[in-house]
Amino acid sequence: MKVPFVDLKVQYESMRDEIVNAILSVVEDTAFVGGKYVKVFEEEFAAYCNRKYAVGVGSGTSALQLALIALGIGRGDEVITAAHTFIATTEAITHTGAEVKLVDIDPESYTIDPGKIEAAITKRTKAIIPVHLYGQAADMDPILEIAARYGLKVLEDAAQAHGAEYKGKKVGSLGDAAAFSFYPAKNLGAYGDAGIVVTDDREVADKIRLYSNHGRRSANDHAVEGFNERLDGIQASILSAKLKRLNQWNERRREAAARYDELLEDLPVTTPREMPYAKHVYHLYVVRIGRKVHIQWLSR
Ligand SMILES: Cc1ncc(COP(=O)(O)O)c(C=O)c1O
Repeated sequence: MKVPFVDLKVQYESMRDEIVNAILSVVEDTAFVGGKYVKVFEEEFAAYCNRKYAVGVGSGTSALQLALIALGIGRGDEVITAAHTFIATTEAITHTGAEVKLVDIDPESYTIDPGKIEAAITKRTKAIIPVHLYGQAADMDPILEIAARYGLKVLEDAAQAHGAEYKGKKVGSLGDAAAFSFYPAKNLGAYGDAGIVVTDDREVADKIRLYSNHGRRSANDHAVEGFNERLDGIQASILSAKLKRLNQWNERRREAAARYDELLEDLPVTTPREMPYAKHVYHLYVVRIGRKVHIQWLSR
């Protein structure tokens, strides 16, 4: 039996009218790039993460890269991140001109092992990017403590963890800034590429807005050479509609994970562990097996 990775059509059909109306409003208002739908979603998502500011951008990757730039990271700097993550985390570091320093993960949580971070710190280290992988928060308290001691910035890679919690606090509210992806298959997914950065730092938010919009301060006044990485109105409007259901969807993921735990109990596989400090939102339910197996690719 072929099990699809995700069935986005089922979700669409469960809220077809809301999605169609969201798209139609943007088309009728011709608010395609930036504009009021983006502003509304930014406010809603900042509130959801208990942050002061949110800046919508073109993807999770650009959210990471622009946040690093806004935090002052660039050529000559080193940024520490987890050795086990999606390539976008390191792409974002490399494309600022900084160097990637990989630190191994904890084998139970699959997130960066705080006990191994200090050994990777040098004079050039400027930031740490903990990745809340598969929907579970990294162990943030020791990471924040080390960062404070060495004067490092902390950027959360929350691309896979919308709504996840660490000791009762939402991910995204823990570091200096956090980057989220709204790639369609994510727990909160757009209908194309999209991302956002949340932060409490006004300067960081302003800088991300500046850099994501060609460095534009006002019409024909460009302070820097930036990027074209703005969030578009249709994605923002769809995301506003879907954000209302995120908590409910995450609860259903948690129920499904509990059911998998039961069903897999007697098999020789290691199921995911929800750490005592975390509320996992199971973007992915990843099992470990004791040996390498060859999985035949059946879909083509
Ligand atoms: C851990 C992690 N970081 C960053 C990204 C990048 O997000 P996007 O695909 O929206 O650029 C992803 C998305 O797949 C991810 O899983």
